[in-house]
Amino acid sequence: MSKIGLFFGPLKGSVHRVAEKVKAALGEQYVDMISVNDAVLSDLEKYDLIIFGISTVGKETWDSNYSNTDWSKFFPNISKVDFSGKTVAIFGLGDHVTYSSYFVNAMGMLAKDLLKNGATIVGKVDPSGYEFDDSEAISDGMFIGLPIDEDFEPELTDERVSNWIKSIKPAFGL
Ligand SMILES: Cc1cc2nc3c(=O)[nH]c(=O)nc-3n(C[C@H](O)[C@H](O)[C@H](O)COP(=O)(O)O)c2cc1C
Repeated sequence: MSKIGLFFGPLKGSVHRVAEKVKAALGEQYVDMISVNDAVLSDLEKYDLIIFGISTVGKETWDSNYSNTDWSKFFPNISKVDFSGKTVAIFGLGDHVTYSSYFVNAMGMLAKDLLKNGATIVGKVDPSGYEFDDSEAISDGMFIGLPIDEDFEPELTDERVSNWIKSIKPAFGL
């Protein structure tokens, strides 16, 4: 079967830690972990099954808030790839207490560009299990991917990852 490309960033923080859990839950033999810090356009084109891991570290525009992150270099690649025929899932790190009105916004920004370029996004999550005021990652009443809060709800991470992986496995041929 074809491998899943798990594109994540930044390195060595919460996203990285959760990416390792996602990989383990899928079965590590099925997953290539790719840091967006090192990734190039052709890495993205290579995979038809893709998972993105991203954190929200700013609450306004991508340009002003992402200029210093691993994602800032990689993000423009998203608009250069034709995602038709590709199956994509996203998990997003955020903080639902301090940034309650901007909870996991980056996941929504990423999804917007992916959808514009034809991606099929799987793994939507019911927001009823979360407390927050607003989020750009909500679409048609659902989170477009899996929100994870390692700052204030780390004890929920394992169960959230496990349920999410169960829900996306069929779409990834597992
Ligand atoms: C400067 C800064 C801004 C942040 N802005 C947001 C935000 O707008 N929305 C949100 O949900 N979380 C926000 N967070 C929380 C991070 O997304 C959270 O701590 C995450 O776990 C960081 O993961 P990382 O270490 O892998 O980047 C912010 C954190 C920092 C330090």
